[in-house]
Amino acid sequence: MAALINPSILSADFANLERDLAAIGTADYAHVDVMDNHFVPNLTLGLPLVSRLVEVSPIPIDVHLMIEDPDRWAPGFAEAGAASVTFHAEAARAPVRLARELRRLGARAGLALKPATPVEPFLDLLSEIDMLLVMTVEPGFGGQSFIEGTLPKIRRARAAISEAGLDVWVQVDGGVSRSTIERIADAGANVFVAGSAVYGAASIPAEIDTLRALANA
Ligand code: DX5
Ligand code: ZN
Repeated sequence: MAALINPSILSADFANLERDLAAIGTADYAHVDVMDNHFVPNLTLGLPLVSRLVEVSPIPIDVHLMIEDPDRWAPGFAEAGAASVTFHAEAARAPVRLARELRRLGARAGLALKPATPVEPFLDLLSEIDMLLVMTVEPGFGGQSFIEGTLPKIRRARAAISEAGLDVWVQVDGGVSRSTIERIADAGANVFVAGSAVYGAASIPAEIDTLRALANA
């Protein structure tokens, strides 16, 4: 499975989002972190802004909802044209119903797990989703260091997906960089979110190429 690189615009300049989306035009998806100051202690952007980002982005939008009550709010992001909408397992009341609704609206459905949330209770639901997001930092902020203890969970998730014969993507988010991406790919992830590593690079296109090459090695 070829690696996908999804830069997180959390590390972009919020006053120049159109410019900073154009800067990652060679990446696979633009990762957009929606935070509500309740599920996580940070507040970013909401549906009106994401709707505009969908319109101006050169690449599809991958929305990561770090919000309470995704059952109520997530479908709106699919209706706005996000290619992928990921909600947190810890916040969803009816994850299967919500995943089905997102798919019906034409988006890929993603289920996210915080670092301390085990994957085992969700293994029976894998056929209902298109992507499992394993958080490799505590959600809320960019620029944190990768939590090594999440690697076994990535491995177990990939093994369960393979065993079930499913085509579910495994996304990792948090602390992905040149120095961690090979270990993460080896554990079975195929979608890599990187915020500070990409937007902090001297050359953004070169960094995207380097991360993709390391993940595919
Ligand atoms: C954190 C966000 C991430 C963040 C990752 O809660 O979900 O997408 O942008 O930032 P880095 O890549 O800097 O760890
Ligand atoms: Zn994210």
